[in-house]
Amino acid sequence: MIVILTGAGISAESGLGTFRDRDGLWTRYDLNEVATPEGFARNPGVVHAFYNARRANCREAQPNAAHVALARLEAEHAEKVLIVTQNVDDLHERAGSRNVLHMHGSLGGALCAHCAHRWPAPRVMTADDPCPACGKRRTRPDIVWFGEYPYYMEQIWEALRSARLFVSIGTSGTVYPAAAFVQDAARAGAETLELNLEGSEGASDFDACRRGPASRIVPEWVSEVLDARR
Ligand code: OAD
Repeated sequence: MIVILTGAGISAESGLGTFRDRDGLWTRYDLNEVATPEGFARNPGVVHAFYNARRANCREAQPNAAHVALARLEAEHAEKVLIVTQNVDDLHERAGSRNVLHMHGSLGGALCAHCAHRWPAPRVMTADDPCPACGKRRTRPDIVWFGEYPYYMEQIWEALRSARLFVSIGTSGTVYPAAAFVQDAARAGAETLELNLEGSEGASDFDACRRGPASRIVPEWVSEVLDARR
């Protein structure tokens, strides 16, 4: 099995901002205000406005050559390919990937903070939207915030344990538990590869690293992997 971890860098060339680069989202917004349960409790309107803007950006964005290449890898490779993404956009799915786990949630989902009911997010969410199941006005984006437990962790750790190859694409390697996946996979015997614009925090943990924009280096790598099997 090939397990691929993706981060904001893979969607950067689709026009969606990264978090920690120069001009990144966390240089312009206080993450404590917009990406924590405490920030949401203090000011839900500010948090909804932040994610409504992200949702609008996402609707306008198109998958780039890196997303398309990963969908091709999944379609054409004999081995199972699993994408574990930290991204809340849907560009992997729109490029054609099927086996995708959104460990930090997704902009397309709404979640009731009272009864945990989930439903598709409307274009614009407000703090007054009632939950369609329980009627309470505690609607939030279905996004995993700082201090919350990421989704699908058991499934992800199991996949890492059986991975032959682990590839990390466009992530700074600063947010756990995703930042430790390279070590988890290596411990289980997987080969590890990083594809990133520049060296990430954890670059030295990888067997090999390639540098460059995702839209170039991901299709190059996918072509090599598929050609090697012919
Ligand atoms: P970051 O913004 O921390 O890191 C983006 C990485 O992508 C950096 O290492 C960049 O060098 C790289 N990069 C930028 N442009 C690129 C390109 N065109 N091609 C390839 N690489 C490029 O984003 P993440 O690592 O995804 O969580 O951040 C992890 C989590 O922190 C996010 O899921 C989010 C954030 O806070 C939550 O909101 C809970």
